[in-house]
This record gives sequence, C-alpha cells and structure tokens, in this order.
Amino acid sequence: MSTIDIKEILSQLTLDEKIGQLVQLPGEFFKDDASTTITGPSAKLGLNKSYEVYNTGSILNVVNPVLIKEIQEKYLANSRHKIPLLFMADIIYGYKTILPIPIAQACSFDFEMIKKGAEVIANEAYNDGHHITFSPMLDIVRDLRWGRVMESFGEDVYVGKQYAQAMVEGFQGNDINEGHIAACLKHFAAYGAAVDGRDYGAVDMSLQQFYEVQLPAYKAAIEAKCKLVMTSFNTINGVPATGNKWLNRKVLREELNFNGVLITDYAAIKELVDHGVAEDTYHAAKLALESGVDIDMKTAVYANEIKSLVENKAVDISLVDEAVLRVLELKKELGLFENPYRGLINPVVKFSEDMKKEIALNLSSKTSVLLKNNGILPLKKNQKIALIGPHGKQKGQFGMWAFTGDRELSVDLKTALEEEFDSVSYAEGSNILLDYSRLGFSANGGNFMDMFPVKNQQELEAEAIDLAKQSDVIVLAVGENMMESGEGASKTNPTLSEPQKQLIYKLKKLNKPIIGVIYAGRPLILSDIESYFDGLLYAWYPGTYGNISNAQILSGKINPSGKLSMTFPKSVGQVPIHYSTYRSGRPILAEDVAYRFTSRYLDETNAPLYPFGFGLSYTTFDIGEIKTTRKEFGSSSLPIVSAVVKNTGTTFGEEVVQLYIKDLVASISRPVIELKATKRIKLQPQEETVVEFQLTQEDLSYHDQLGNLVLESGEFLVSITNVSSNISNHDIIKLV
Ligand code: BGC
Repeated sequence: MSTIDIKEILSQLTLDEKIGQLVQLPGEFFKDDASTTITGPSAKLGLNKSYEVYNTGSILNVVNPVLIKEIQEKYLANSRHKIPLLFMADIIYGYKTILPIPIAQACSFDFEMIKKGAEVIANEAYNDGHHITFSPMLDIVRDLRWGRVMESFGEDVYVGKQYAQAMVEGFQGNDINEGHIAACLKHFAAYGAAVDGRDYGAVDMSLQQFYEVQLPAYKAAIEAKCKLVMTSFNTINGVPATGNKWLNRKVLREELNFNGVLITDYAAIKELVDHGVAEDTYHAAKLALESGVDIDMKTAVYANEIKSLVENKAVDISLVDEAVLRVLELKKELGLFENPYRGLINPVVKFSEDMKKEIALNLSSKTSVLLKNNGILPLKKNQKIALIGPHGKQKGQFGMWAFTGDRELSVDLKTALEEEFDSVSYAEGSNILLDYSRLGFSANGGNFMDMFPVKNQQELEAEAIDLAKQSDVIVLAVGENMMESGEGASKTNPTLSEPQKQLIYKLKKLNKPIIGVIYAGRPLILSDIESYFDGLLYAWYPGTYGNISNAQILSGKINPSGKLSMTFPKSVGQVPIHYSTYRSGRPILAEDVAYRFTSRYLDETNAPLYPFGFGLSYTTFDIGEIKTTRKEFGSSSLPIVSAVVKNTGTTFGEEVVQLYIKDLVASISRPVIELKATKRIKLQPQEETVVEFQLTQEDLSYHDQLGNLVLESGEFLVSITNVSSNISNHDIIKLV
C-alpha cells in the first residue's frame, strides 16, 4: 500500500492545479505539442485559453497502449506537480477477448463465470495500461425499446445484485494492483427507466420503485467496493442526475456510503443547461460541484468556471478540495504515484490465450437461449445444411460497445458449423436493412455497418432459395445490425427487419425444416415469425468465440442451458413488461376474454411470448415437491426450502433452479412474484440432487413508500421452479 500523503499533495497545489484534477479530456490534447491543442481540440471543447492542459487529471478512451505510455511520459515531463494521469475507457464486456454482451451473460445465471470473465477483461486491459473501465452498467431495464438493453443485466432485481457483485469483484480483484483495474458503475441513477423508452429520456418514478427496483444493483456494486460511479444523463422526478444533490449526496454518499469518485457521463454537466436547470455553464458547474460531482467528463465547464465560482465565493473551496482528494485517493490506490505505467512496464499475465478461450466458451455455452425445438435439434452430423442469412458468415458479432476486440480472431457461424457437420453451404439471403439513414452514422456506416453493405435483395433471395432446395435443413442466421442496439438506439418496433422476414416467408414454402439463430442486442418481438421456425436459438451478440458454442448447441455437443434474463413480449404494446409485475384489483384469470372489466388488453393476451427464466434443454428435469424445514418461524429462524431435482432424460444437462416468493398480504401491494435465488446444477441422465435455499430476512422484506426497508409478519408463497410462468410447485409459509 502506498504511503503517499495525499493531503500534503493537495496543500501544495494551486487552485488551477486542483481544478485540473477534476477535468477529463480526450487523448488528442496530448498527441501534439500542447500549444497547438489550444487552437485545435481546445477550441472545439471551448476551453479558456488560459487553461493549462498539463494540469488535467484524467484521459478518456485512449485505447492504444503505446499512446497511453507516450501521453503519460509527456505529461509527467511537462506538469509542474507530476501527479500521474488516470486513463479511463469503455471496456465494457471485453478488451481483446470479447465476451457475450451483458444481457446475454445474465442469461447464464452463472455469476462465478461472469466474475471470471470480468477478471479476463481486467487483466487484458491492465497489461495495456488502462486504469479504469466504465463498466458495469447496472441500469435495470424493462423496456426493450431502449437500445442499451444490450449493456444491461435485464429486468430482475436479484440478477442485478448478483451481476453487479460479480463484475466489480472480477474487475477489481483482491489486489487491484495485481493485474486488475478499477470499476465504474453506471449510470447513476435509473437511466434505463425513461418513461418513453428513449435514450436520454426523463425518469419519473415513486420512491418506493426507486429504492425497491433501481437501487439494489448499484448498492451491491458499492458494497463490493466499486471505486467509481458515473452520473446518468436523465432527470429523475424533474432533477437531472448530474446536478442532483438528493441523489448524489444523500442517497449515494450518505445512504449507500460511497466514498469513491463520482464522474459525470459524457458532457452531462453541460447538459444541465439544456435540461433548463442551469442558466449557463457557470451555474451548471456550481450545481454539479454542490451535488458532489468530482470529475467533469469531456467538457470545459469545470475547467472554465470553478475558479470564478471560488473567487466569487459562490462555492466554498472545501467542495473543490474534497473532490480533488477523492481523485488523488484513487490515484494512490491504483499505485500510480509509485508506478504511473502499471501493466505497461510490469505486466501481470494471469490467463493464457487458451484459458481465455475456455472461459469465453464456458460463458457463451450458457448465454444462448434455446427458445423453440419441435424435435429437429440437435441436428445430425450428416444432415446437409444450408446456412442462410446476413449473420451466417459474420465475424466480430460483438455488439456496439466492444471497440477493441479483434474481429479477425473471432469465429463466424459458418466456420464453426463446418467443424460439427459434414456439409455446410452458405448464402447471404437478405440484407439486414435496406436503409441505414436513420442510424445516425456517416454514409459508410461508422464502426459496424461496413459489414453489411446493401446488395440487390432479389438476387440474394434467389441464391438462398436455390441453395435451400438442395439441402436437408436450413439454418437461418438473422437479426439486428449491431448499430441497431446500444447507445442512441431506441426503437418503437424492435422486430426482425422486413427484408429478413420476407426471406423467411419465402424459405418456408420449400417445406424444409428451418432453425433460426438470432443475433440481436435486445429481445426482439418474434410473434409473427416464431411459427415459421422448427428450432430457435437466441444467440444475442456472442463475442469472439461464441459461435463455436452456438454450433455445438446445434450439433448437440453442448446441451443448451441459458435462461432468459428478460421477458420476450408478444407485442410492443405490452411494454414495459416484466414477470415481477404489480397486482391488480381486477386480475385476469386464465385469460378469460368473456368478461371485459379485468386488467387486460382487448387485442392481445397479457402473457409474453417467452417468459423470464425460460430456456429449453435437450433433456428434461423434474422438480420434486417443495419442502420447507419450518412452516412458521420468527425472523431469526428462517427456514430452508428445498426440492429434489432429477434429470429424467437421456442426456447430461445443466438447469437453473429458481426460487420465487410472493408476499401474500402486506401493508402495500406486492408484486405477483419475485425471484430471490437461483442455483445452477449439473446432472447426468437419471441423476438427482437436493437443491436447497436458505431464506433470508432480505428475501422477505420490501421498501415502503418512503424507501424504508421493512419486514412484516404474515404469509408468503414460496416456489421452486425452472421458469417464472409456473409456480405451481409451491408452499405457504408464515413469518410470525
Ligand atoms: C455513455 C457512457 C460511456 C461514456 C464514455 C457516454 O455516451 O453514456 O456509458 O461510458 O459515453 O464513453
């Protein structure tokens, strides 16, 4: 542990130098001679001419290790105080080895593997000189219109808590200076709950919902000692998060006990003016600083305004000092004062390439979800396969937030299928989109669209139909273009694009079995095409090696075991939909449409297409009757609930056993059911095991209207099952 005295360092800094520590700039400021940046990047950002770039505290998104080293060297040579720079970047779910996207990882319900995955990411990033990642994103999301579904763990509170802990522990390790990096949870807070499903949209919610649904994952990350927090772009009940004193001082610092660095999201300080809560940037800087924001990401607001705020006595210098101390403390914890280059000159290689591949494959074998199988899967080795669709020969299915992954290293589905089957031929079959103009990227399509140049649709279809005619079975690799999900990718009707649907309709006429492999960054609405498939595998974006496990699922070498971490609705009108919905005074029972005055839609059932927790296997599991050690108990002697689970099929398989509870009567109306625990088990054919869950006080508690945690006596339904839509295996227990 470093013995550096950060208070002593603070006492030696001028006000300008202190302010610099709170400023984050992109690397371009240091590429050239600092004097030339004044007319280039500085002018673009609107930095005052007097701003000294060699006071800056941190750098955003420089990913090239050579450049990181050069910038640090140049900085240390030119800055008076010689406090090393912090390098922060979006290293979200992979650095070189790209793992399945977060929403997919959550479908594994394997939090140990998720943690291992984060360790791999951290280790690769550490050795390239990175200090901090802007991950994990812990915004719970129940609205698939929102594009950042791909970066989230999905809809469930319990999953969020487990995912948060696993990611933070994996990134930061036991010793952050032994091959690990600091995590930054984002986006604080409730960013995924925009009322209109649009990115950057407003959030309006009760305190009860905020504490009950939004906070738990953030809280779990902070309890796991996450070093940084990022503010969100949105307003919460009218106040933008980035200048929100209640949120950042009371909730984050006082209630959640967070002592680390609070950084804004990209230019969010400046947006306080656009939100209409700050008159100008001077006012915006005051609001942010007072609300406890330490670092201004990529604007000139702190750089230009804090000095006058202090000189005019509009803010107290103690606010600046406390923010600077937090930044210095982070630099100290990362050992930067002793070793500003960390992994760049002292690499710590924890994983060989083979180990990384094995971890990625272990994860991806559990993240693809088998949604449908009429008996066609697994396919036989000698079946003649026509692989059709724009994703079939696509390398680098990484999703939007993986800029550093090596596409060439990645394995496409065609190559992976060839390892498993005797005969695999390919035709592209369809464009993903015919018009890219609304995706908001330049003509050649930014990062990922160059993979999908628009071609003649009729020719593509004709070629695919010819190929399909000569085959036994069609594997259809379709989905979203990668820029259709991620930041700024909200949609009103997330479904397969029209050209791809037309292709499916045409192929269906050939009377050959069709297996869909769908690549997407969110659950798509599949109701109108689902019946066209004999088998359906939801592959999300599987990362560098995920297609190897996808092909092995199709061949039966891997028995699928992914379970949905988010509900798949039948129609976008059901959104926001989630299994843990609230009760109604007029629930619809058994979809009884003869009676009008129940809580239902006239034109659609309430039930989703595929429920949360759902996913098929090639074997069958029988979950025996639920047992409880005590039916009545006090709060200090909570029971264990258990069930015998048996693999009743002929194939080895893994199952995610799920524990749900329902608080039958409480002072406020509680959700229909809530997931409280899961266990992933492995069983050989005909093998059985007892799966036990120890109930905790937290499992039976809830947040009241003011956000206080309460535990009330009364009856609870408990169920052990393997899908949220079936809680028939239940018991009633009583807290007295
Ligand atoms: C995103 C953040 C990201 C940041 C830095 C923002 O636009 O909302 O999630 O970490 O940019 O790249």
